[in-house]
Amino acid sequence: MVKIIKNWGVRLKVDELRKVFLNFFETRNHRVIPPASLVPHGDPTLLFTTAGMVQFKPYFMGLESPPASRLTSIQRCFRTTDVEEVGDENHLTLFEMLGNFSVGDYFKSESIDWAWEFLTEVLGIDKNRLWATVYVDDDEAYDLWKKKGIPEEKILRYTAEQGNYWGPPGDSGPCGPCSELHYDFGTPVIEDSNYDPDKDHPALDTGRFLEIWNLVFMAYYQHEDGTREDLPAANIDTGAGLERLAAVLQGVRSAYETDELRSILKSAEKVTGVHYSPDSGDQSANGLRVITEHARAFAYLVADGVLPSNEGRGYVLRRLIRRAVYFGYQMGITKPFFGDVVGSAISVSSANHPELEKQREFLLRVATAEESRFQQTLSVGLELLNDVMKTHSAQKEIPGREMFILYDTHGLPPELTREVAQINNFSIDEKGFANEMDAQRERSKGEENFAENESDRQARYASLGLKSKFTGYEKIIDQSNVLILMHDEMIVQELNTGDRAEIILESTSFYPEGGGQIGDHGEIITTTGKFSVEDTQKFGDAIVHFGQMLEGNIATGNDVETRVNSEFRLGAMRNHTATHLLHSALRKELGTHVKQAGSYVGPDRLRFDYTHPEAPTHENLQSIQALVNEKVRDDIVGSTFVLPYDEAIERGAVAFFEDKYQDQVRVVEYCVTPHSHSTEAGCFSSEFCGGTHIHSTGQIGRMQIVSESSIGAGLRRIEAVTGPEAEALITNRMNTLDLLVQKFKVPIEDLPQRINSLEDQLNTERKRVEETLTTIAKIHADELVKSTTQSDSTSIIVEFLDSGSVETSRLIVDRIRSQLDNVFVCIATEVDSKPFLMTASSKTAIENGLKADVLVRFAANICGGSGGGRAEFAQAGGKELSQIQEALDSLRKECYRILSDKATSSFESS
Ligand code: SER
Repeated sequence: MVKIIKNWGVRLKVDELRKVFLNFFETRNHRVIPPASLVPHGDPTLLFTTAGMVQFKPYFMGLESPPASRLTSIQRCFRTTDVEEVGDENHLTLFEMLGNFSVGDYFKSESIDWAWEFLTEVLGIDKNRLWATVYVDDDEAYDLWKKKGIPEEKILRYTAEQGNYWGPPGDSGPCGPCSELHYDFGTPVIEDSNYDPDKDHPALDTGRFLEIWNLVFMAYYQHEDGTREDLPAANIDTGAGLERLAAVLQGVRSAYETDELRSILKSAEKVTGVHYSPDSGDQSANGLRVITEHARAFAYLVADGVLPSNEGRGYVLRRLIRRAVYFGYQMGITKPFFGDVVGSAISVSSANHPELEKQREFLLRVATAEESRFQQTLSVGLELLNDVMKTHSAQKEIPGREMFILYDTHGLPPELTREVAQINNFSIDEKGFANEMDAQRERSKGEENFAENESDRQARYASLGLKSKFTGYEKIIDQSNVLILMHDEMIVQELNTGDRAEIILESTSFYPEGGGQIGDHGEIITTTGKFSVEDTQKFGDAIVHFGQMLEGNIATGNDVETRVNSEFRLGAMRNHTATHLLHSALRKELGTHVKQAGSYVGPDRLRFDYTHPEAPTHENLQSIQALVNEKVRDDIVGSTFVLPYDEAIERGAVAFFEDKYQDQVRVVEYCVTPHSHSTEAGCFSSEFCGGTHIHSTGQIGRMQIVSESSIGAGLRRIEAVTGPEAEALITNRMNTLDLLVQKFKVPIEDLPQRINSLEDQLNTERKRVEETLTTIAKIHADELVKSTTQSDSTSIIVEFLDSGSVETSRLIVDRIRSQLDNVFVCIATEVDSKPFLMTASSKTAIENGLKADVLVRFAANICGGSGGGRAEFAQAGGKELSQIQEALDSLRKECYRILSDKATSSFESS
């Protein structure tokens, strides 16, 4: 174990170190820049902000001009590469980076001067404990360190692989050779006789050295293909890990023992009831560090808008929570605990990052929801994993299939299975697992991504536990307040022009899709911006407005006006009430067995699916439509109320087929009113419904059925329009009739008779044409017979018939067959723009090898078709009309070839 030497330097607390650092560089003319979000906005090359320079990339690349050429910052960073390593004494996913930057201003000499001065003079770190590394050929940096008094054996030349070339962050970006300062926790080299320079130096992970500062001489830009070019200027990018430096200053060996992390760790000790004893070597110290680190990283990530999900950033976040829960579980904690540690991380870090405190309630809600969901999965999954390990204890390998089932069926994340396997000295059949995953991907190909996205969204909103009140029954314009803004699946504080986003308000007049009625469209307006709502959906209790910022900006907490598009809403209400009337009319006309099986209610049309064993007659449909329109004219005033489920049923309200209802239900009724013409008692329509409806049925204007069809066994569908769309439909049809009246020059009521008589005329003409064609075909057949040389040999007739048909072909073929005893005939013609062929062979022709079915296939093949039949008679269809002549020529040749082969063989055999 490395010996820890305490009590030197200035024992600064972490927060004091932040201040001292910024102050040092401020007095050297650096502009202090606040840290950027952990989610690098507008930088598709990076998942997270991994270094202080990330927000300054555009300056280094010359794309934007910096606010000053010297900058300094303390940047929160998140690195995913180390997730599985977290638990040991050094690794962190989240850390803060102290940095000073020069955009084309100073270079190596000043950056080395200041790093040295800050560490040794301001912080008072013992010079003898500092080692420097430089890039292999960087003599300038080497000499600069030497001038500081670092002995040559402590200035090492490292390659890029050994860590002395930095960047680019992501696949492309700024980069350059670098020089690092390492703190030596061990006994000073010179006095240590056992020191072996090959086995003990900073690039090796011996635990003796800690890298505390990296100075990057950032002069190049690296492209994705690895090629490099000069940046517009030579820049400086430095980064010192805050927690590491604090560990050195506070004389502790691990970041977890510095004041801020230690204080979070204390709360982890408290909730788990486990004492932190890093020297004991047991697993619980590891577990406490995991919980501490991940709770803090969780708070920072969620505060910057990342939410748990199954992909990208959200999945990284989810892995953190799962690891923390797993390590808690290992310590015997089955109750939720993660939220408490997150709470402590918020308290500890808020002075430096006030956003955490502002979002405390939200962060805790997300933590607890995600934690409890995973806790349930975990206990079952781990038990099963234990069983798997028992079964395979001889081989000490977890089969890929088992790992897949644990993941796919029981939700145990593969990385956790790997971790548990490793702890228990099991290996994993990774290949088998990958095969199973591939097979599953193959199986689910074609499943809509949308569904997955939707369920992800569902889970996300559920985990937020948001509630929005719906005020749209009473008014379509209302005042409210912004709860949450989502952009690119991330929570953001502000939306700007052009952003496609999701907005959740405290209350809203926008109706979220439900009961068949589609979500409202309209606008959300603030004093500073306008958002166009293109859809409204409900997830859990949250009503989500989907759309795009039309102009200006909207921020969380803003007062807003919710303006539903009144025409859109009125259309939807009209169609929704019409579906209720239609439902009642169907039950009255066809029987009370009719039940609603689904519906679509849009602003412009409606669709109503219902159960009924057969197609309603035309008369049924007429009566149904007439009954609905009678109720429309009655202008029945609707009423809605909420009452207990049983009472609603007793009242006769109709529930939606197979739907689930709560204790209290909303009922929408259209009953007979004193103004109605109807003498019928009771309500014409009474239904369970959460939708929005018109005040009185007269507003429907008219309902017009557009179609009725079957959509499955016992299921039927009616499509209809109302109001202006019904009027437009009727007007269009009237216009068509007017055209027909003009065309046929008879009064509208005489049109059917006129069309019937025209049809009769047409049929008579058709018959006459057929008779003529038959006569022509006969003549044609006779001519073909006549032109055939009558002899003992087989006659071959292969002909294309212009303006033929299947019928005329058959006529000709039959007529030829009846006149010649020894014949093969093929008549080809054009049917529906494609070749059609018919062949027949007499008995003798067949004996001579001319089979009608074989030969028709031969010819059809040539024009891309196929066919069949018997040796006596066959027919075929082709595809390419252009090839028919070639097919017929070849067929003729084939016939003669067969006959000649036959003749030769009989000659030889005789
Ligand atoms: N960009 C360098 C690093 O991340 C120095 O800040 O180490």
